[in-house]
Amino acid sequence: MSSRRKFIKNTTLTTAAVSLTGLGAKAFGLPKQKETSPLVISTWDHGLAANVAAWKIIEGGGKAIDAVEAGVRVPEADPESTSVGYGGLPDRDGNVTLDACIMDETGNCGSVSVLRHIKHPVSVARKVMDETPHVILSGAGALQFALSKGFKKENLLTLKARTAWEAWKKEARYEPVINIENHDTIGMLAIDQKGDISGACTTSGLAFKMQGRVGDSPIIGAGLFCDNEVGGAVATGLGEAVLKTLGTFLVVELMRNGAKPQEACEEAVNRIIRKQVYEDFQIGYLAIDKAGNHGSYCIHKGFNYALMKNGSNQLIDSSYHME
Ligand code: GLY
Repeated sequence: MSSRRKFIKNTTLTTAAVSLTGLGAKAFGLPKQKETSPLVISTWDHGLAANVAAWKIIEGGGKAIDAVEAGVRVPEADPESTSVGYGGLPDRDGNVTLDACIMDETGNCGSVSVLRHIKHPVSVARKVMDETPHVILSGAGALQFALSKGFKKENLLTLKARTAWEAWKKEARYEPVINIENHDTIGMLAIDQKGDISGACTTSGLAFKMQGRVGDSPIIGAGLFCDNEVGGAVATGLGEAVLKTLGTFLVVELMRNGAKPQEACEEAVNRIIRKQVYEDFQIGYLAIDKAGNHGSYCIHKGFNYALMKNGSNQLIDSSYHME
């Protein structure tokens, strides 16, 4: 490239960067930075144990990105959790296939989808982020990558999950059921002692899904989005509805424009309600802003989340659109 063209290109980039930065705080009403207390927040009651593992890292002065990875590994390893990791309900052909993603305070992110045989997809997603030039690895490629990084190949289909699948096969009807375990992804957000925000999200996806189906959880901007200047959001529920609206990106962008986390979650749910036939499925959003405020909203009563802050870890019922 000639030096003149290079100059013009660089000047344009710099001007764009300056004007966006200039707009940031004023036009979009970003809150003034003040000291934020660390916190960990995660979806559903399996978030309680996950928060404890994440909090250990935050308390010790560790980074939010390490905390969220350690946190969501807890339900991933729990055979009783039939919607995340080991013990997750399989697809309609009996394969346990996992989706996960992770995003740090610099905007780096990594993800895996349709990953089989590996108990901790979030840690594979972390390696995709840290050790490859890519964001998403999928299916056989994700498995090959995981094995090359020393992850162990395991059977993830527990007796409990196999029994549920055998029972489902008798009728083989696919009917998403509101608020039962087949949608409860764990999504986690954390603010560390430096005030940095990261998030992670991991699931076995819809029970008895079509082989190859990818939900919202491994898609940055759908199941998870963080922007360290603004805040972060995670989603749970029927992934297809979140994907159609890029729900967590929407929540964070609404906050960037001045919405409180609660208002942003409500608008993202309302976007689905306005555009989709929503009565038979659940969606829940959870969000935090840079100041450590949080909010959550769901379609149907029943979604809850775990909040760890100031040494207390509590389960809180989300507000909702309908009973
Ligand atoms: N939200 C999880 C899924 O739909 O796969």
